[in-house]
Order: sequence, then C-alpha cells, then structure tokens
Amino acid sequence: VSKIAVLTSGGDAPGMNPCIRAVVRTAMYNNVKMVGVRQGYKGLIEDDIYDMDSRSVSNILNLGGTILKTARCAEFRTPEGMETAYNNLKKRGVDALVVIGGDGTFTGALRFSKQYPDMAIMGVPGTIDNDLFGSDFTLGFDTATNTVVDALDKIRDTADAHDRLFFIEVMGRDAGCIALRAGISCGAEAIMLPEKDTAIADLIASVKSNQAKKSSSIVIVAEGDKNGGAYDVAQKVKAEVKSYDVKVTILGHLQRGGSPSAFDRVLGSRLGFSAVNALIQGETQKMVGLRGNKIELTKIEQALTHQFKLEDDLMLMSDILSI
Ligand code: F6P
Repeated sequence: VSKIAVLTSGGDAPGMNPCIRAVVRTAMYNNVKMVGVRQGYKGLIEDDIYDMDSRSVSNILNLGGTILKTARCAEFRTPEGMETAYNNLKKRGVDALVVIGGDGTFTGALRFSKQYPDMAIMGVPGTIDNDLFGSDFTLGFDTATNTVVDALDKIRDTADAHDRLFFIEVMGRDAGCIALRAGISCGAEAIMLPEKDTAIADLIASVKSNQAKKSSSIVIVAEGDKNGGAYDVAQKVKAEVKSYDVKVTILGHLQRGGSPSAFDRVLGSRLGFSAVNALIQGETQKMVGLRGNKIELTKIEQALTHQFKLEDDLMLMSDILSI
C-alpha cells in the first residue's frame, strides 16, 4: 500500500475524528501517504480530496462530528459514479481506502471494491446505532448512550417533581441498543425495543402497576419500535391512564453530537490504527471490529449479512430491575 484515502460516510458519530487521526498518523508512521476525502462518497465523485499529514489531524480528539464531513450519496450506487470515483483516486496514486461508517457505507464500499479489486478497502464501524455484526461496539455508541443518559436523568428530576409519565424517543434506526443501555442506566420503567414485541396492553398494565407504587415513570421508545414513535405509543396509553399527566420528549439529533467519550476516543484510535495495519498486511474487503476486547477482522460481506443481536440477558435484567 502506498497511498490511503480516508472518508466518513452516512450519519456522523462521535469518535470518527479520533479514528481519522489514528488512520493518518499510523499511515505516516509507516511511510504511507494519506489523502482525506470530504463528504464521503460524494467527495470521491466530486474530487473533493486533499493531502493530509500528521498536522492535519492535530487537536481533533475532542471534537464531535467529523472534520472530513459526511453525506449520503445515491450517485455512488451507479456504475458511472463508481467509475468517476475510481478515476479520481487513481490519478492521485491512491491504492487503498478506509471507510468509516455504518451498513450503507459498507454496502457502497463492497460494491466498489468488487468492481475495482485493485483498490483495497477497509471498513471501520462508525455509527451511534451499534448495529453491526463483527464489533461488540461501534464508534459513537458509547457517547450517544451517555448523552441519552444525561438527558434521561434530567427528565427524571422533573418527572418525579410532577408525578408524571414520560415517553422518550431515542435513536437507533432498527436497533434498540441505545434504548436498552440508556434504559438500564436510568432505571426506565419500560423499554420498547424493535427486537422485542411489547403489546400495548402489557405496557398499559405495567404503567398502571407502576403508577400505584412510584411517583414518576419513564418509558423509553426506540425509534424502530413496531408500535410507532413515542407520540403514537403515548397516545395509545394515555386514554387508559387518565389520572397520569403524560409528556413526550423526542431526543433527536442531539444524540449524534458532542465530544466523544474516553471509550470512543480509545476505540476510534484502536480501530483506525488497526485498519491501516490490516491494509499494510494486504487485507481487503474487511471490517475492523472489537470483539471481546480484541481487534478482529470480519469480511464486509459477513458484517452486512449477519444480524447483530441485542443481549438477551440485558433485556431480561432490565425488566426485573425496574419492578
Ligand atoms: O444511523 C444513525 C442515525 O442517527 C439513526 O439513529 C437515525 O435513524 C438516522 O441516523 C437519522 O438520519 P438523518 O440524520 O439522516 O436524519
């Protein structure tokens, strides 16, 4: 490998910057040249590519978002878009690509690398959703969960002061990882997860029984829950618990921002470092991940086709501990 391009794509996640820093500096250490691509695959097509060195990534460990910017790009799915991107990389002598993002990013990377196998590809799991097979944790998940916990603690104060029932919607797309861990951390009375069907009748029964013994109740609704969003769920429950004052909060994009936690800074550094080392060792079409506190490579194909599984023990425990 003589020149690596790095990009971030899809939803930004805290920890992407520490990862970019690690990629650039590990490459520099190994005398491999580096370029950065702005706005993900869009920048590849539009030739928004610039030379990077160790100083290009100074003082970014603490920054949320991504200094490379990010985008979702439909054009990269077309053969013409991929060809333009390939030519832009080739004319600069780039022979390897590190892509930091989620499943949409990896789908694009794999298709591109199959079309142009001389372009080595290494994926880094970067998404607050924590929904990728092949890594116990994805970049940004820890920070986002801590942000949700901070918000939930504040909501608990006011919920308790007013004896209210709150429905809080959290992100995660089709995954309930943020909802589950934040719920356990804050003692949520109920957690509605896409991975687990909760009948509205059961939720109503549990809210009623909580009302009899607790002053406030917090129900976390993962955005991918099949009963709908927090407003829908609140609407269905409200009619049955008339004496409870019901409020809804949608945490939204604040969950994506903020300075990365120490965990995400270390994870980003570790994954970025390993991604470059894997490319140097001749690996391609793989994703670096953390499994059981060890760095492991997973074929991108597998990361995309195998389902990430929410921990059954955590789901069971959260129900028991909230009685
Ligand atoms: O994948 C990260 C994520 O924040 C999801 O949790 C959420 O469903 C989605 O992105 C929101 O996407 P956008 O920022 O494009 O609205």
